[in-house]
Amino acid sequence: ALVSVTELLLKADREGYAVGAFNANNMEIVQAIAQAAAMENAPVIMQASQGAIKYAGLDYITGMVKMAADEYKVPIALHLDHGTDFDQVVKCIRSGFSSVMYDGSKLTLKENIAMTNKVLDMARPIGVSVEAELGKIGGTEDHVHVDAKDAMYTDPEEARIFVEETGVESLAIAIGTAHGQYKGEPHLDFERLEKIKQLVKIPIVLHGSSGVPDNAIQKAIKLGVCKVNIDTNIREAFVWEMRKIINDNPDEIDPRKILGPAREAAVDIIRQKIRLFGSSNKA
Ligand code: G3H
Ligand code: 13P
Ligand code: ZN
Ligand code: NA
Repeated sequence: ALVSVTELLLKADREGYAVGAFNANNMEIVQAIAQAAAMENAPVIMQASQGAIKYAGLDYITGMVKMAADEYKVPIALHLDHGTDFDQVVKCIRSGFSSVMYDGSKLTLKENIAMTNKVLDMARPIGVSVEAELGKIGGTEDHVHVDAKDAMYTDPEEARIFVEETGVESLAIAIGTAHGQYKGEPHLDFERLEKIKQLVKIPIVLHGSSGVPDNAIQKAIKLGVCKVNIDTNIREAFVWEMRKIINDNPDEIDPRKILGPAREAAVDIIRQKIRLFGSSNKA
C-alpha cells in the first residue's frame, strides 16, 4: 500500500537525510524508481505532474504506482507534483494519491494561504499530506536578474506566517534552484534556507534539484531539506540511453530493446541520488 509522505519526511527530518521524490511519466520510469528504492532499501516518493497525468492518464499512474508499492517492501508514496488546479487535486486524492502539492506560488500570499487551506481542509481528514510552495522556483529559461532575487526567493518571515496560518505539512522554497537543465552552475542561498528553517519547523522541499552539484545538495539537506525533487536527471539518463541504442542499431524496431536499457539507465541514476540523499537503508 502507498505510505504517507508526512511520516517519511518527519523521520528524514529527525535523522538528517532526505527522501528522493522522482517524477514518473510512464511504466518504465515507475518500475525504475521502485527497483532503485528496493535495491537501496530506501523509502521513495513517486510524483506525477499535471503534465504526466495528461500524458499517461490518472488511473494508469495510480494503478502502476500502487502495483509497484505492492510488489516491493520499501515504503512508496504517490504525490501530485505542482498541482495548480483544485479540481485536479481532488481527482488525484479520489484516485488514491497519498500526498498532493498545491502550488499557489503564482498567487499573492493571502490567496496562497486561502487556497492551501482549502486543500488542507479536504486532504487532512483523510490522511493525505499537503506540500505548499512559497516563492517562485521557475524554470532555467526564466532569466533571473540579481536584483530580482528578493522578489523571487522565499521570504523567511512570509514563510513563518504562511506555515502558522496553514499548518501545512511541508514547504517548497525558492533559494536559487530552477526546473530543467541549468545553463551555468546554480548558486543556492544557504543563508536564506537557514533563516527559513529557524522560523519554520516543518520539512522543507527542494525543487529543481537535477544539475545542482552534489555538495550543494548535501549542504541543503544538512540545513533542513527533507524532500529532494528530481525529474530532469531521469529524463536525461533515459533518453540518452534510448538515443545511443537507436544510433548504434538503426534497424532496431523492438521498443523493448530500446526502453529496457533506458529503464536500467534510470535505475542507476536514481540509486546514485538515493545514496547522495542519505536515504539508503532508511526503509
Ligand atoms: O516541476 C516540473 C517537473 O519537472 C514536471 O515537469 O510538467 O513537464 O511534467 P512536467
Ligand atoms: P528538475 O527537473 O530540475 O529535477 O526539477 C524537478 C522538480 O522540481 C519537480 O517538481
Ligand atoms: Zn518542482
Ligand atoms: Na534543475
